[in-house]
Amino acid sequence: MMMKKTMKFGRRTLLLATLSAAFGAAVAAPGAPLVMGFSQVGAESEWRSANTASIKAAAKEAGITLKFADAQQKQENQVKAIRSFIAQKVDVIAFSPVVESGWDTVLKEARAAKIPVILTDRAVNVSDPSLYVTFIGSDFVEEGRKAGRWLLERAAKNPGVALNIVELQGTVGSAPAIDRKKGFEEAIKANPKLQIIRSQSGEFTRAKGKEVMEAFLKAKDKKIDVLFAHNDDMAIGAIQAIEEAGLKPGKDITIISIDAVKGAFQAMVAGKLNVTVECNPLLGPQLMQLARDVVAGKPVERRVTVIEGVFPAEVAAKELPNRKY
Ligand code: AHR
Repeated sequence: MMMKKTMKFGRRTLLLATLSAAFGAAVAAPGAPLVMGFSQVGAESEWRSANTASIKAAAKEAGITLKFADAQQKQENQVKAIRSFIAQKVDVIAFSPVVESGWDTVLKEARAAKIPVILTDRAVNVSDPSLYVTFIGSDFVEEGRKAGRWLLERAAKNPGVALNIVELQGTVGSAPAIDRKKGFEEAIKANPKLQIIRSQSGEFTRAKGKEVMEAFLKAKDKKIDVLFAHNDDMAIGAIQAIEEAGLKPGKDITIISIDAVKGAFQAMVAGKLNVTVECNPLLGPQLMQLARDVVAGKPVERRVTVIEGVFPAEVAAKELPNRKY
């Protein structure tokens, strides 16, 4: 099924507090180029590279000066980058937090400096939610549910048959790992024959996904029927491990993953992956607009979500030429 991808405003609270009310910030001088400090998680996946490219291109297009820092999947590097943006007195800080917790102190520092903060892609757990102005990103719990529902439908074709599932989780403590696990478990609960027998982090990378899948396969105590990978890169790494173990990915082991990057479509066309749930990384244009509105003191939505689709292998060949990432 192909779904039209549009950003929609979340139903939750309209952030009526303007920038000046929330942060007491001075509105940037008219005509002065807006400066954004952006701290990116890293370059761990195809998804992340597409997200970075979208942000850089959109900043250029919008005439926004972008100070970009790659945190190499380390929270301490993100904290350093945010502090450096504060010292440089940027107009707005945006970041995709590698993990959910541990942000209170640095976000309070940003507030004290009167610099508004926008979250992109991933959420944070903070004591005071007004420490950030808005959050633009996917609904990861729903992505997990979509993956689980796809499996439920497939399992319903062979009622009563037990399926052993192994799970490759994303980065420990990250919003997508926590939420996708939660959504998937919530959906598969409807069929007690579907059981997760092993679950471990593959850190959202191909190399680690392969390594952990090799360990799952070596255990040999229980047959593995299904792999649920929290992203396509780990699924692609796992596919290699499955092939090296003399099994057929997509046939001997059903593979479900998330992101819907080109690499996943290629794997589906080759019959090695069964389904991918979309997670849209092209957040750049919306982020730049939000930044402009926030700095101009306009009201913005508290939560901006992305509507995304599910792509089973049957539609892969037709959809592949349309994929932008
Ligand atoms: O936060 C989004 C996730 O981060 C993507 O699913 C994954 O590929 C990336 O590394």
